[in-house]
Amino acid sequence: MTAIRALTIREYLDLAKETVDDELNGLLPAADEFPPSIHAAMRHSVFAGGKRLRPVLCIEAGKLLEGDEQGILARACAFEMVHTYSLIHDDLPALDNDDLRRGKPTCHRAFGEAIAILAGDALLTLAFETLLSPGPPSGEAKLRVACELARAIGTRHGMVGGQVADLESGAEQVDAARLEYIHSSKTGALIRMAVRAGAIYAKASEEEVARLTTFGEKTGLAFQIADDLLDETGSTQALGKTAGKDKEQHKATYPALYGVDASVRRASRLVEEACEAIDLYGSRAQRLQALAHFLVERTS
Ligand code: IPE
Ligand code: IPE
Ligand code: MG
Ligand code: MG
Ligand code: MG
Repeated sequence: MTAIRALTIREYLDLAKETVDDELNGLLPAADEFPPSIHAAMRHSVFAGGKRLRPVLCIEAGKLLEGDEQGILARACAFEMVHTYSLIHDDLPALDNDDLRRGKPTCHRAFGEAIAILAGDALLTLAFETLLSPGPPSGEAKLRVACELARAIGTRHGMVGGQVADLESGAEQVDAARLEYIHSSKTGALIRMAVRAGAIYAKASEEEVARLTTFGEKTGLAFQIADDLLDETGSTQALGKTAGKDKEQHKATYPALYGVDASVRRASRLVEEACEAIDLYGSRAQRLQALAHFLVERTS
């Protein structure tokens, strides 16, 4: 008899990615639907690759709190749409000016700047349509998530605020508080929100939502520290985006301010704290805890 063994985190992520990709495929307009250039551009960026960590975190937070997995799946895809919009805009010449993303030419390289800007806008609006369209979870949970997500990606400690502070800070003048603001806003806030949404959809108590939020917040900050470390220590081939750009562009990063070793320690400590926040769920928390460890130990 074949022994049944637990999936490794990579095997699990591969399977989860397939499920999320099938759902995204149904949610995005067909590439030939009029006007085809923008639909092709949206699909180019969404399906170029990507780990699908934000929807997976949302789904797993929902599962931990016994939410309806099927009901959460489509809503979870909204977080991937928002994330992909942020990547398309982050890569534009006016921002990080990158040519490679998810192993493919960036959206503006493949489709031109105008269509790339609009493809980002379109993914952002499709995300809110996806969050608010009819069907489960309850209307109250959907409204709450949509409203909180809007804030999480806005200018007040949200993604756009973080991106502005990133653009306006150089490695030379950034201090610890500003760096933490940049990272927890430009990247942490969406990851925190994806986890929180899973808990809200599962109709968790406020205490549980708060616990999962702590997990998401610490994981989100650790995730961007790991991203900075990979830019410095990883390869373009493995990352699917040009390595070494942060130093070249004098970006405010954790390794630039603290060095590589201290940044690795900070990210690991954050993951430990994130895992502790959900320890009381015992073995049910193992998947989320394994994901948190994966986020900082990954090589791409
Ligand atoms: C990269 O995010 C950009 C950041 C916010 C740090 P991911 O590393 O999750 O990118 P994909 O989705 O796997 O391409
Ligand atoms: C991106 O941070 C954050 C957002 C897209 C909001 P980075 O600029 O470090 O992401 P990469 O390294 O280009 O993926
Ligand atoms: Mg950037
Ligand atoms: Mg960038
Ligand atoms: Mg980066």
